[in-house]
This record gives sequence, structure tokens and C-alpha cells, in this order.
Amino acid sequence: RTRFLADYRPWPFTVLETRLDVTLSPRGTRVRSALRLSRTGPGDLVLDGGKGLRTRAISIDGRTLDEADLSIGEETLTIGEALLPDSEFTFAADVEIDPQDNTALEGLYLSGGIFCTQCEAEGFRHITWYPDRPDVMAPFRVTIRSDLPVLLSNGNPVASGPGLAEWHDPWPKPAYLFALVAGALRAVSGSFTTMSGRQVALNVWVRPGDEDRAGFALDSLVRSMRWDEQVYGREYDLDVFNIVAVDDFNMGAMENKGLNIFNSKLVLASPDTATDTDYERIEAVIAHEYFHNWTGNRITCRDWFQLCLKEGLTVFRDQQFTGDMRSAAVKRIEDVVTLRARQFREDAGPLAHPPRPDRYEEINNFYTATVYEKGAEVIGMLKRLVGEDGYKAAMDLYFDRHDGDAATIEDWLKVFEDATGRDLTQFKRWYTDAGTPHVVMTEDWAATEAGGTLTLTLAQSTAPTPGQPDKPPRVIPLAVGLIGPNGDEVRPTEILELTEPQQSWRFEGLGARPVVSAHRGFSAPIMLRRTLSEADRALLLAHDTDPFARWEAGRSLGLDALIARATGTADAGAAYIAAIGDFLRDAAADPAFAALVLRLPPEEEAASVIADRGLTPDPDAIHAAREALAHDLAAANEAALAGLYDAMVVPGPYAPDAGPAGRRALRLDALALLTRLDGGDRAAALWDSASNMTEKMGALGQLVRTGRAAGALSQMEQRFRDNRLVMDKFFGVQPMAAPPADAVAVARRLAQRPDFDWKNPNRFRALVGGLGANHAAFHAADGSGYDFVADWLIRLDPVNPQTAARMFSLFETWPRYDATRRAHAVAALDRIAALPGLSGNTAEMVTRIRAAG
Ligand code: ARG
Ligand code: ZN
Repeated sequence: RTRFLADYRPWPFTVLETRLDVTLSPRGTRVRSALRLSRTGPGDLVLDGGKGLRTRAISIDGRTLDEADLSIGEETLTIGEALLPDSEFTFAADVEIDPQDNTALEGLYLSGGIFCTQCEAEGFRHITWYPDRPDVMAPFRVTIRSDLPVLLSNGNPVASGPGLAEWHDPWPKPAYLFALVAGALRAVSGSFTTMSGRQVALNVWVRPGDEDRAGFALDSLVRSMRWDEQVYGREYDLDVFNIVAVDDFNMGAMENKGLNIFNSKLVLASPDTATDTDYERIEAVIAHEYFHNWTGNRITCRDWFQLCLKEGLTVFRDQQFTGDMRSAAVKRIEDVVTLRARQFREDAGPLAHPPRPDRYEEINNFYTATVYEKGAEVIGMLKRLVGEDGYKAAMDLYFDRHDGDAATIEDWLKVFEDATGRDLTQFKRWYTDAGTPHVVMTEDWAATEAGGTLTLTLAQSTAPTPGQPDKPPRVIPLAVGLIGPNGDEVRPTEILELTEPQQSWRFEGLGARPVVSAHRGFSAPIMLRRTLSEADRALLLAHDTDPFARWEAGRSLGLDALIARATGTADAGAAYIAAIGDFLRDAAADPAFAALVLRLPPEEEAASVIADRGLTPDPDAIHAAREALAHDLAAANEAALAGLYDAMVVPGPYAPDAGPAGRRALRLDALALLTRLDGGDRAAALWDSASNMTEKMGALGQLVRTGRAAGALSQMEQRFRDNRLVMDKFFGVQPMAAPPADAVAVARRLAQRPDFDWKNPNRFRALVGGLGANHAAFHAADGSGYDFVADWLIRLDPVNPQTAARMFSLFETWPRYDATRRAHAVAALDRIAALPGLSGNTAEMVTRIRAAG
């Protein structure tokens, strides 16, 4: 069933208070609820509930209703208007649910003996009958009854005794922010004093034995709380802040008020079990969920179409935070790499949708790169257009005006208009229109006696996307600077605001023809097309003052080299190899940045650029081209790479900070290239000597790629067989890094192992997603990659539809490949679409993906 934004109607009641009394038991948890309601409009009382609710009794003001007075359907409970008191009344329900049977991990479920909840987006309806929509907000009072030692819910603790705990959350919230946790957990604790002097108790709850891996999460939380005060003036508003780590979780983490629940891989870290990348993600996600306290919880969304109101903004804020904690330039490049890999791909395929969609079937399928990452980019553009001061004034007004509200994108834009006086009518298209605009930039140089004038012309267009044939022009802020022929910056960054299909700008009084450094900082989520000679790109890589544009110049040379080789020119790339050679002389100056420059473009990106140029990518040719290019790049720069590999050793004990992490990253990127020459000798030596997981995994990836990993893998298994997170790496690295010709067989073998606990989302994603990330293996010409993934998604769908459906996006690029591959992909999709009893989540994904091509 399709839901439409245009159908929004307010609920005809207000919930003055929600009381829950929950008696926990694995097979029969009793949930007694009492909702104090007040009528605000005409209509029946309609509540949401799932199939798993065993309803024992329903009452109004203490009077139990007969079955005749109620109508209980598949998804709703209705009490007719005539049976309801006129003004205030109490609705009460007594239901029983089965957390142990809940493999979908939505609502209340058990994970390794821990009771926990996941309610966003529509999980609360699997706990009890309720108006499960984000615009219905209420204070909650919760009683938990259980013999388990730790009993947690939202808000502040008000009472606890043997077998009982009571919690009160004074801040009105929608049901999706409800949480409950119970188990034998241990806390790693700290405290935080807010800017107004309030003491907050902080706890990170983990399973006994995991305490020594929770310190970094706690430290990240403290830094997040301080940052949100300093940068956004936002203070925490309860006496306690609890974080819980659970092993079975459909996504990363959840911002439940005062009780964030996390996938354990985003909490637990120690030097010998987590990589630098894991640490950086933990820091970012702890911050993300904490920042939701204001952007998401205090101000929530009116309906799920507005999801990017909280997610885009909170991603933008967590990106700013990471930029401040680490290197802003490196973080920006990393974010662009992810955006292009996930969101551009989504925008160019059958699943394209705007950051604020106007229809959906299953909201859980819309927690996408477009809503999250493009949603964040749109805010970055807004900030660029209104400036730092305008942004700050608008944010202050947003918090002031909408605290306690369930708001919309219109409310958000109005705040920016009111605070800055800017008309955002055209800008709003970024929220309502899907697709990545293409901007073509052309240059015209008119020489004069003294020098000359440069005219830049920008032309924009956006290809149609499903359901949106016409794409009117958008507001595109394009940041440009000019670099003189000797490498000096002759014009600093300025923002060209493109609003028409085509516009020109003149730069006068230039001494000599400059090289245009365009799209600085990746100032808009567009694809920029321009003709720029290899020499000019090499100049930008060497001299640009903008780190993104500098990196982009190298990336563009690398992509062209890779694509030329993949489509015919066997030895292309001399300019790229020479430019990287020059760059390496200075690489040690900023190792984290240098690591990004040194990394070859991924095969998937090459495939997408080839498709964007109207050609058919050949995954095998792209893979071979990338291997050969890596080899030639290494051979031409062997001494410099070997020098860096030795120089980037980090002395002393492991620290996850940006400085040493950057050195390790550069060292490992040098290793990846050197392995092309030494066949894996350095990687084998590093595996033996490394004392941290970052270097271990860097070495292991190379050993798997070169077929020398057997010993390392068996050592890993010996040492870490009881550590689920490390074993996820074991399951992931093999299909991902194996030579494509072997990867499907490797994945099939791993899937036979008794410890392939496929009902655990992390383990499933490690193996099946690992194969999906091996471009040439997933897109194997014989269809074996598609079949492997399809078989497993078919198996997972009845158990955990949410996780299964979201992984279908692996198939979203099928129309870009050749006829043989397309036929295999279509066969796999049709096989799935024909299955009886397919979940609504998966059915929607398969239908939308299959409709393309
Ligand atoms: N709000 C959570 C976050 O971004 C994610 C919840 C995802 N929920 C879902 N059903 N996919 O922090
Ligand atoms: Zn979020």
C-alpha cells in the first residue's frame, strides 16, 4: 500500500500522558498501557498494532470493552466515536507479546539474553496498541518488572527495587523514541557537567567482559556533549544518559531519548580488535545519536516523509564534529567518496527519490543515502549560501521556534528565510526533486595586451528519474578559485550561484591564463563535467590551495587512466603515474590526505563513470585494468613507496587519534601498492609483527588478494573465535578481497561454516555484503554472484525483512551492464518477486529495482 505526503491529517486526540507497565518474559511479556487522551478533533479512536499482539483486554476509563465495541484488524484497533467520552478519557490495553520469537528485530526482542527495543520507524506498534506516528508526542512513565539486574527506559529513574524499576521521561516524545532494555549488563560510567552546571550521569552498558572495550565510546560521548554546547549552544536535558551495546541490531544505532541503543560494533573497541576506521565511526555515530537529542528528539518530524529533517541535519552536524575532532579536509573527501559511491548511484538508478519523498510503501526502505547523506549536503549548500552568521541565526531561530514540535521541511526553510531574508523557493527543489544535476563548465579566454579575461559558463541539467520527468533548474553554489600557471592562487574562492539553465561569469584583469580550481570543497552535490588537460590537473594536484579540489584533480587523472585501460588503451595513465610520483615527494607532510590521494578509484566508481558516459562497463576488464594500473603505479614509484612504508611506522603505544591513524593509513596504502611488486612479503611480515587490528587488517586484505592468507586466517580464528566483531571481519574480508574469480566459491564455503550465524545482521552483512562489495565477483558474467546473494536474501526475508530488503540495493545498478549480466540479474529478481509470502519490504524493493531497464 502506497502512502502519500499529500494525505497527511492530524490525529484527532492529544496524548497527555502514556503509562506503561511491562512484565518481561521471553515468550510472554505482558504490556499494560494507559493513555490519557484529550479530543482535539472529530473521529474514531484508531490505534496501530502489529499481528504479534495477543490482546487480553481493552478498556475506556476503567470499563472493559466487549468485543462488539471494538474492531481489531490486521494493523489497527478502532473504537467508534460514539463509545468515547467527549473530552478527556483513559484508554488502557493489556497485551502479551513474544520477544524471543521476534527475529525481525523490530519492537521488543531478545539479543543474547538482553531484552531490547527498536521502535523507529514503526516498531512500537509491535509492543502495544498506540498512535504510532511521530506527530503524537507524550511524556512517558514506565514500570519494568523483571528479575534481571539492569532495567532501563527513557528519561530519569524515579524508583527501583528488587525486580522493579520505574522511569519518567518528562519530555514529550513520539513512540518511535521509546526504549526499554533489561539484562545482566555492566556499566562503564562517567559524568558530564553541562554549561548551566547540571550534573549528568553517563553510562555505557555492555555485557560482562566487554567493559575494557567501552572507554572510547564514553570518551566520544563526553566530547560530543561539549561540542554541541560550544558550537550549537545545545545543552543536555536529563539527569542520566545511557548507551547500550547489543549484538543483534538492524542498523547502526538509535537515538531513543536518554537511552541510545547501539549495534555493538559501534561501541566496542580496543586496539587489538578494532581498526582506526572503526574508531572513527564509533566517534561519529556516538556523536550522531547524541546530537539527535536536539535535532530529532526535542524537534522531531511531523511524518516520515520529513525524515531528512532530522537525519540530514544530524548527519551534517556529525560531519562537522568529526571535521573538528580530526582533519576537516580529510573528512570532507571521505564524505564525498561515500556520497558518490552510495548516493549518486542511488540517484542514477531505479531507486532514485528526493531527500523528501512524497510517497512510499515501506518507510524502512527509505533510510537511504539520499535521505541521510544528500540531506546533509543540502544543508551544507544552504549554509554556504547564507554564510556562517546566517546559518547560526537560522539555527538559533529553529531551536527557539520549534522546540517541542513535530516539524516539516517547510518549517525548516521558513526559519532560514525569516532569519536571513533570503527567498528559498527555488532552493526547495533540492528537497523535492530527485536526481544528481550535471553541470557542464566551459571556459573562454580572451587575451588582451596585459593578460586577459576569463569567461566561465555553467550549464545545468538533470536527467529524469522514476516518476519525475521534468527537472527545472536548481540553485547550485559552485565554489571556484583561480590558480596561475606557476601554481600561485591568483583569485581566492568565490561562490558562483547558478540558478538558470545556463549562466556566465567574467574574471577580468588576469595576468596570464589561469587554471580554474572548480567545485572547491565539493560545494554542491552535482557532477561537474569539464575538459581539463592532464597537465592542468597535475598542476592542481601539486598546487591547489583547496584540499578537496587538489584531491579531485588526482582522482580524475586516476579515473581517466583506469577507464582508458578498461575500455581499450592498455598502457594509459602515464600522466597520472607521473603526477602521483611528484606528489609522493611531499606525501609525509599530511599522511591522512596523502593516503586518500594514493588510493586508486574503486572499480564500482569506474563502472558508474563509464555508464554515465553512455558506455557499457565490463567488470572483468575494469578489474584487470585496475590491477595493472596499480602494478604500474607501484613499479614507477617503488623507492618512494618503500620509503614511506618504512617512514610511516608509528612508534609507541596505539592511539586512535587522527595523527597516528593518518600515518597508518598512508603506510597501508603504500603496502597495498608494494604488494603488487613483492607478492605479499611485506604484508606477511606485517601480519606477524603488527600489534593492532588496523595493521592486521591492512596486511590481511593484501594476503587474501594474493592467495597467501591461509595461515593468517587460521591464527585469527584461533585467537578470536569468541569475539563476534572480529569474526565478522574474518567473514567479510575474504569474499571482499579475494580475486573475483574465486570470491563466490570462497563465500559459499564460508556460508557452510557453523559459525555463519546468518540471523545476526552483522554476520550476514559481513559475508553477503562482502561479496556484494567485490564488484567483479558480484557481477560475475555467469550470474553466480547474483545467485549467491539472491539465495541468501530469499532465506533472510522471512526472518528479518528489514535487513533483507535494504541489501537489495546491491542490485540497483543492473541496467547498466551487458545483456548477459542483465539477463542473470533479471532472472534473480524475477525468481524473488515470484516467491509466495515475500515481505512487503522486499516486495517493494524488488518491484522498484526490476522496473528499470
Ligand atoms: N534514527 C537512526 C539513526 O539514524 C536510524 C534508525 C533506522 N531505522 C530503520 N528502521 N531503518 O540514527
Ligand atoms: Zn540519525
